[in-house]
Amino acid sequence: MAETEKAGYTWHKVFETEEEAKEQVPQRKMKLLVLEGRSICFAHTFAGFFALDDACPHMGYSLSRGTTNYLNEVICPWHSYRFSLSDGRECEYRAKKAVLHPVDVRADGVFIGIERTQAPA
Ligand code: FES
Repeated sequence: MAETEKAGYTWHKVFETEEEAKEQVPQRKMKLLVLEGRSICFAHTFAGFFALDDACPHMGYSLSRGTTNYLNEVICPWHSYRFSLSDGRECEYRAKKAVLHPVDVRADGVFIGIERTQAPA
């Protein structure tokens, strides 16, 4: 995947166009992506596109196997903890925040930014 540099992030092009992203990940669906060796859950909700670490902060299950809801949360399929796609918080503060990554829809594609300091060594 193509990468570009911008403001502390390495930006990875994950879809060629917004239409392709919508086609591959319809609203309310999620998809597992691997960027820099890191598993990322790409989510499409009524509020747009979101990206977060795929490992649930509770016990590490794959969030991309879960679902989303009308509150713009991702619901882990194992113990049903719900994480906000706006700020990563678990709705009842039972686990650490999910790690969110910025998504940028540009004329030349859909990009996910991975903060350089967060990248594995
Ligand atoms: S592993 Fe996700 S809620 Fe427990």
